[in-house]
Amino acid sequence: MENELVTKLKEIVGEDWVLTDMALMESYLTDVTALPVLPEPASDVVVVKPADAGEISSILKFANEHRIPVFPRGGGTGCVGGAVPTVPGIVLSLERLDRIVEVDKENLMVVAEAGATLEKMLKEVEAADLLFPPHPGDEGAQIGGLVVCNAGGTRAVKFGVIRQYVKGLEVVLPTGEIVTMGGKLLKNNTGLDLMQLMIDSEGILGIVTKVIFRLYPRFAGSATLIVSFDDRHAAIKAVPKILQTGVIPLALEYVERDVIQISADHLGMRWPAQKGMAHLIVIVTGSNEDDVYAQSADVLKVCEGLGAVDILMADTREEQADILKIRSELYPVLKPQVADVLDMAVPPAEIANFLDVLDEISRKYRTRIITYGHAGDGNIHPHLPLELYERGVLSDVKHDIYAEAVRMGGAITAEHGVGKIRTKELPLCLDDKSLELMQGIRKLFDPNGILNPGAALP
Ligand code: LAC
Ligand code: ZN
Repeated sequence: MENELVTKLKEIVGEDWVLTDMALMESYLTDVTALPVLPEPASDVVVVKPADAGEISSILKFANEHRIPVFPRGGGTGCVGGAVPTVPGIVLSLERLDRIVEVDKENLMVVAEAGATLEKMLKEVEAADLLFPPHPGDEGAQIGGLVVCNAGGTRAVKFGVIRQYVKGLEVVLPTGEIVTMGGKLLKNNTGLDLMQLMIDSEGILGIVTKVIFRLYPRFAGSATLIVSFDDRHAAIKAVPKILQTGVIPLALEYVERDVIQISADHLGMRWPAQKGMAHLIVIVTGSNEDDVYAQSADVLKVCEGLGAVDILMADTREEQADILKIRSELYPVLKPQVADVLDMAVPPAEIANFLDVLDEISRKYRTRIITYGHAGDGNIHPHLPLELYERGVLSDVKHDIYAEAVRMGGAITAEHGVGKIRTKELPLCLDDKSLELMQGIRKLFDPNGILNPGAALP
């Protein structure tokens, strides 16, 4: 990187917080995207670690004036290359903004800086005897990243994804202004809702520096059910039926026994269900034990009627945490064998049809597409195996799957986002006018296109 830039950055943040040595920068150039589709990082970058929004503002003002690309970086837990610096520029790490500013027990809110990890925030929220319900798998994710990627995860069926929890933001715009959006408010109708625009903006509209999230009192009771079926179709058919009972589970996941076993073995843990090949993991929460048991009974009745062959109920906190842990580690454990992990959304009642279509596509290409996901959200992750990449048919398979999902009224990404690896496919499910409006909004926030170029939009 040019000396003038490095000198300026050192002047803003101090000598110690600028990296130019490749050996030290390596971990800042990648994320958890499967290797065959991981974008090539630029080598001509500089990593800067500002201490606060003021320093970020100074960096962005300078970058904007000199048209230098800036790549905001959180925990690096994305799987669509969103944080990878693909052209020479500045990697701006939020890691020093890592304070949990306040757990506000009166308002049931938490205020956290963008670079704090989810793990750190969950610990402080739990210490205050409160609950942050969503659980996007990797707790190394940082708060700002969770917001700009609108993370989803396993516990979104009952209360929704990250978007439903965000109440306020502090943001530094690409032109350097520091603005606040929203606040500790549950209702707020003042003007256009820029805060909602920032959520899921994938780092192209501004850099989030502080977040206010809504919290909930801890559930008095919860249980995790593992319901086993002999085949995939029977299991997945039960999903909309469970949702129609009136019980709204916190989570409703679909996994296959031989696949979840790989994760359990890797962790040296025991997966409790040993019958059937397809499992639904259903987390039920309630105001007391009786309530939890009554809801569980409703779920079980429906599943038995639809051919469940075995049902297990975990009600201790440890057992439930173990099940979530084994589920959450699936992708990292499978990743070495995966060419691309897809993230389709289909209307919830279509998921059985969608899985049937995936079976057809697997037969067509003579492969196995490992599939699991957040079935209660209609959000499924087909894992395209490495061998499809080696055979040169990865794109063909992907396009067959995209086309089928879109035909069913689905979307090509439900929670992982577009990042830098799905921009070309956006026109499959967005019309020209919508794309034009999105490009216009980007330009309005970032007239010189310096922020996370190559991400989110074609
Ligand atoms: C999961 C990631 C792949 O659901 O989204 O495990
Ligand atoms: Zn997921």
